Amino acid sequence: MAEKILIASGKGGVGKSTVTSFLGKTMADSGKKVLLIDSDTGLGALDIMLSVADKKMSTWIDISDGNCKAENALITISDNLYLLPSPATYPETIDEDVFVKITKECENDFDIILIDASAGIDENLKRAAKPCDRAIFVATADEISVRCAAAAAYETEKFGIDRTDMRLIINRFVKKAAIRSRLLDVDGVIDKSGVRLLGIIPEDKKIPYSSVTSVLPAKKSSFCKAIKRIADRIDGKNIPLNLKELK
Ligand SMILES: Nc1ncnc2c1ncn2[C@@H]1O[C@H](COP(=O)(O)OP(=O)(O)OP(=O)(O)O)[C@@H](O)[C@H]1O
Ligand SMILES: [Mg+2]
Repeated sequence: MAEKILIASGKGGVGKSTVTSFLGKTMADSGKKVLLIDSDTGLGALDIMLSVADKKMSTWIDISDGNCKAENALITISDNLYLLPSPATYPETIDEDVFVKITKECENDFDIILIDASAGIDENLKRAAKPCDRAIFVATADEISVRCAAAAAYETEKFGIDRTDMRLIINRFVKKAAIRSRLLDVDGVIDKSGVRLLGIIPEDKKIPYSSVTSVLPAKKSSFCKAIKRIADRIDGKNIPLNLKELK
């Protein structure tokens, strides 16, 4: 049965969808069968990030409305990687248990289901969190983003995920900038978020344009290595944090 993991942040634009897509690819490459669910209603991004936006797509609202079965709505990205896209417009009503029902329908066919949350700490987060066994919060190393991640963790606890099942990813990390400026250092982020660290992903200039140019960071780049270490840690491997590799 699939493990269901929420990727959330509270604050927008810190890298939830980027982390979801690259983690998904990396896990799929290592042999896991992975489903990515874009829960970001009306503002979905995973179809573009995974270069399938031009395909005719059913979305989770079609499943919820009874217009199609989950198995027919999933888009194949690669051998082991599938996407359930989000509706392009915000529906008038959304079943609070939509992702509970859909993940129940799919969980026997997958090893991992990653649910990409929208920004915010409202009912959208609740819907995305409800079926999940654990949560990963993405924050950048600045005070506002970390406060938002802490708020999202606080709300997510109310939605049923235990704090011991929560982890933090620091994204877009630039070590020199964190030291020189008023950005928080790694210890500061962990202390202020109140969530245990899962990994640190460095800033990589190729990422913002990768879905347009199809030029991805090389497998041996700091970015890809960081994602791989995070995937391995989620898989239960004991991979020490390696701050030396960060820029
Ligand atoms: N490690 C990184 N290095 C460089 N750019 C990054 C990195 N991670 C994310 N980005 C860029 O940051 C921007 C926001 O990323 P993304 O869309 O994944 O954030 P998000 O949290 O999902 O946003 P939203 O809250 O709108 O859903 C994008 O332009 C993305 O390419
Ligand atoms: Mg997003």
